[in-house]
Amino acid sequence: MKSWNGVSAVLAVLYLSFVLTPAPAAAGPAQDQILKHYQDLAGADVTFSADRGKEFFMAKHTGGKPKSPSCTSCHTKSPLKSGRTHANKKIAPMALSKTKDRYSELKKVKKWFRRNCRSVLGRECSPQEKGDFLVYMMGQ
Ligand code: HEC
Repeated sequence: MKSWNGVSAVLAVLYLSFVLTPAPAAAGPAQDQILKHYQDLAGADVTFSADRGKEFFMAKHTGGKPKSPSCTSCHTKSPLKSGRTHANKKIAPMALSKTKDRYSELKKVKKWFRRNCRSVLGRECSPQEKGDFLVYMMGQ
């Protein structure tokens, strides 16, 4: 009987952690870690929003390179579709449901945010902008 109690306890903990962490459906532990990184930077009082992430992704920004005023300049307006660099190199879809290893390596995420935010906005994106973008793409 004791072992059954143990099993129930484990199940209860699993159930609770599932209910308490409303991570996007396709996200696994690696993506959770990345989200947590940006949540820590943004502060606990900031809530990330997929709607705001979508707006940010679709918007035309100023301050960056004239050739790339928007994230969609390379990634296209559909997260489900492949994009293209200016050099015409194919970019896998940004949606996590389409490209399973997206947002799984902090080093890669940091590198491309730095590079792409500078190209599009002429500055680093804020932790809030990054978090919004990530919850949007992880839910796509
Ligand atoms: C000049 C073309 C270009 C623009 C504009 C661009 N990106 Fe990218 N992005 C790339 C390329 C190339 C990669 C790396 C290839 C890959 O991950 O498939 C990439 C990768 C990324 C990654 C890493 C994804 C991962 O799998 O970890 C993130 C995050 C990202 N971009 C966010 C953005 C955001 C946010 C914007 C708008 C502010 C943006 N990108 C605009 C070309 C671009």
